[in-house]
Amino acid sequence: MVTLSPALKARLALPLKIGQFEVNSRVLQSPLSGVTDLVFRRLVRRYAPTSMMYTEMVNATGLHYVKQLPKIMEIDPNERPISIQLFDCRPDFLAEAAQMAVEEGADTVDINMGCPVNKITKNGGGSSLLRQPEVAEAIVRSVVKAVDVPVTVKTRIGWSDKEINAVEFAQRMQDAGAQMLTLHGRTRAQGYNGPARWEWIARVKEVLSIPVIANGDIFSVEAAVRCLEMTGADGVMCSRGTLGYPFLVGEVDHFLKTGELRQPPSPVERLQCARDHLEMLWEYKGERGIRQARKHMTWYAKGFPDAADLRGKLAVIENLEQGLNLIDQAIERLQYLSWGSAEAETPQLVEAW
Ligand SMILES: Cc1cc2nc3c(=O)[nH]c(=O)nc-3n(C[C@H](O)[C@H](O)[C@H](O)COP(=O)(O)O)c2cc1C
Repeated sequence: MVTLSPALKARLALPLKIGQFEVNSRVLQSPLSGVTDLVFRRLVRRYAPTSMMYTEMVNATGLHYVKQLPKIMEIDPNERPISIQLFDCRPDFLAEAAQMAVEEGADTVDINMGCPVNKITKNGGGSSLLRQPEVAEAIVRSVVKAVDVPVTVKTRIGWSDKEINAVEFAQRMQDAGAQMLTLHGRTRAQGYNGPARWEWIARVKEVLSIPVIANGDIFSVEAAVRCLEMTGADGVMCSRGTLGYPFLVGEVDHFLKTGELRQPPSPVERLQCARDHLEMLWEYKGERGIRQARKHMTWYAKGFPDAADLRGKLAVIENLEQGLNLIDQAIERLQYLSWGSAEAETPQLVEAW
């Protein structure tokens, strides 16, 4: 049974201050490429209305040459607080992109210095900046100069076990003007394997004066509390735990504010959320939205009888009607089996991802 100590509750009671910008939640929804579009963020906000969200990462070089706002950079005028995340290795292009982000309505601009994907690192972006701290520093300085909203950095603890430089790197980002640092407790070499090493987040927190957000393996309220206790971080960022489970940020936020566990959604409620997700993707992106919905739908369909069969069918849907029919039939079956009640067992599907 997870409990909220009075000390932790008091420490997190005040708003999160990112420079002059205040956020009334200590739980953030991470940027997830291919996932955290405007539709997904809208779902997360249903349960976590005050949490900070991030767009998918946007390529600054692409923006420089195309000069047109890509769909992944779109912000709903009503959604706040919101950060646009950028990646690149060119300080001038990033400064230009940051100005476009602010024009679009970003409350903060985040620079991705943690992406491990080869396509990004071989061009000098993402986590490869951990090996080029002078370039990373020039980027932060250039973006800070270009915009009047806070500039933040999201990074990893190092390139590999032999090159863990989180503490020096973080200090350097702060000195360059970053107003918040999110630290994913893995090296680039780890990818997403092995446990996140929260002890490094604690070390970074000890030396920085700007807020430090802990990231990596926050799959439950219990993990969030353990991580906050262990690291002393100013907040936590949920990532893979939200795939097919946009309830997580709200669950953690609610617990940190009240000390009470929110009733987890029943399998039927999760499928109803999947249904909304599918419809909203169709409305926002049309045919492309249906193709993108396939993976989301399979993430929702977990933890109830015949879920594997449903996943197989949802993975190949061709249109809205087909997807809605499959979900409606599954809901009907679960209601017949009484899996729709709040008391129904809700397996920790997010841990299984
Ligand atoms: C599918 C996927 C897409 C991601 N896209 C981004 C991204 O666009 N920007 C970013 O900073 N991190 C991205 N990440 C990394 C996550 O934000 C997060 O740092 C990482 O998953 C660690 O947290 P976790 O262990 O809780 O999943 C992505 C991760 C995944 C699995």
